[in-house]
Amino acid sequence: MTLPVRRFDALVVGAGGSGLRASLELARADLRVAVLSKVFPTRSHTVAAQGGIAAPLANSTEDNWHWHMYDTVKGSDYLGDQDAIEYMCRRANEVVIELEHMGMPFDRLENGKIYQRPFGGHTQDYGSSKMAMRSCAAADRTGHAMLHTLYQQNIKANTQFFIEWMALDLIRGADGTVLGVVALEMETGEAVIFQAKATLFATGGAGRIYAASTNAFINTGDGLGMAARAGVPLEDMEFFQFHPTGVYGAGVLITEGVRGEGGYLLNKDGERFMERYAPNAKDLASRDVVSRAMTTEMKEGRGCGKDGDHLLLKLDHLGPEVINQRLPGIREIAIKFANVDPVRDPVPVVPTVHYQMGGIPTNYLGQVVAPMNGNPEAVLAGFYAVGECACVSVHGANRLGTNSLLDLVVFGKAAGEQMARDIRALPEAHPDLTAEAADRPRARLARLDATTSGESVHVVGADLRKTMQAHCGVFRFPDDLAQGVSRMKEVAARAARSFIGDHSKVFNTARIEALELDNLVEAAMSTMVSAEARKESRGAQSRSDYPERDDRNWMKHTLWYKEGNRLEYKPVHAKPLSVETFEPKARNY
Ligand code: FUM
Repeated sequence: MTLPVRRFDALVVGAGGSGLRASLELARADLRVAVLSKVFPTRSHTVAAQGGIAAPLANSTEDNWHWHMYDTVKGSDYLGDQDAIEYMCRRANEVVIELEHMGMPFDRLENGKIYQRPFGGHTQDYGSSKMAMRSCAAADRTGHAMLHTLYQQNIKANTQFFIEWMALDLIRGADGTVLGVVALEMETGEAVIFQAKATLFATGGAGRIYAASTNAFINTGDGLGMAARAGVPLEDMEFFQFHPTGVYGAGVLITEGVRGEGGYLLNKDGERFMERYAPNAKDLASRDVVSRAMTTEMKEGRGCGKDGDHLLLKLDHLGPEVINQRLPGIREIAIKFANVDPVRDPVPVVPTVHYQMGGIPTNYLGQVVAPMNGNPEAVLAGFYAVGECACVSVHGANRLGTNSLLDLVVFGKAAGEQMARDIRALPEAHPDLTAEAADRPRARLARLDATTSGESVHVVGADLRKTMQAHCGVFRFPDDLAQGVSRMKEVAARAARSFIGDHSKVFNTARIEALELDNLVEAAMSTMVSAEARKESRGAQSRSDYPERDDRNWMKHTLWYKEGNRLEYKPVHAKPLSVETFEPKARNY
């Protein structure tokens, strides 16, 4: 049976901040653009971003893009590509002012300018002890404000949305060009081919490979899975960020903006322990540094509660006025999920998986790149990626808070611009699809339909998450990693045999979860294998057996290939676009 085909100029998979910024650019260029999303666009995970979007507007403290760039390179533990980092920091003010002009409701200073707060690792004057107020905030609901603004602009620009559709697999032509995706309509269970001259993945991260995560349930690494199955490598997947302040037990995010406003962490002795680990930046050190400090406090017996398994985030001293005006969402989250009112009591918190620095390799124009014919970064025609699913790489081994929303809009816009240029250079007619175009997703669906016994998708998924949590955490140990690789191989084999009891077509969420499990497997396997292989500590990868950063041997990006479960490496771009290289040095805060 052949599948129905729908044709567009451009296809965007994912309707979070980066997807919507790209689709806006494309729709405004009068191209026919389709956006596929598993959820209603304003429920995409960008909605959960709290503390702000970085831009050196200098509204409250002196600032400029050079300082922002330095902080980002240092924050990345020198693994970030310096051309891409310069590109992002130089375009930051432009894209934030654009959002303001679209109507995004930023908080305001007395003088009417956008309110900015300090955030971890963002400093003045190339890492001095003075923090930069660089995070442009809409209270503690910045992602929410941004997502609604971008959605409304897309409606105005006539972007066509396909809501509650899940993309299953990429379609590549005989010469490797990406020609679109096969997607499943959740309401009907019908599979359809979406053919496009340019296909953009903006599918978000894979934080759900861990048991304790700040991520939405939809963050199952769908773009990563589809890319990996189509032969595209995944870059730097070993670097998963733990956010220092997830609500203990629930995992819900408590923004770093709390510490930006003056909140701080305490151990069971009531000590402000970050002063020992980061004497200058203290609680506003980079996230990897704070998460490791917290984990050390708990390991050494200074954790709070009867099991010593969390720490406390104190903010009552900010007073109800600041809390209600700047952190209203945090107050609500603390009351609902931690059963404490932060106006009076500290919030119990633990480092919780938050963000993947790695992803589908791209350049700073959003084009997907991979090694081909001796070129380590050949452009894959027709394929683009942005946002958390992409590895540009601006975050390297560790991302600074608020650089994520910035990454979404800078590279969403850049990718939209590049796609429009590329589409205009192509012939009017779409190329023919090969007879095998939809074979892979059809085989996956057929297997689920035909399998009536075995292990449940839920059980395998839970074991995958447990394995990642236990074997690839804040601190990584050689035996755990080696065992983690073998366990992940077992999990992958079990996932391939797993089954669902419900074979109905209409809104069958069991089928969706089974399809998501395939993607979780690719994301988790690439993370574990890449982490086991990298014999150094850098950013979010902290190994007990190799505690130091090793620039001589490991200043390179990892590329993981699904086929053969194998690794390759490629050089870091040390040369920025217009300024001198920031040479690696010891990273102190
Ligand atoms: O802490 C936060 O508000 C998270 C921000 C981010 O991940 O960029």
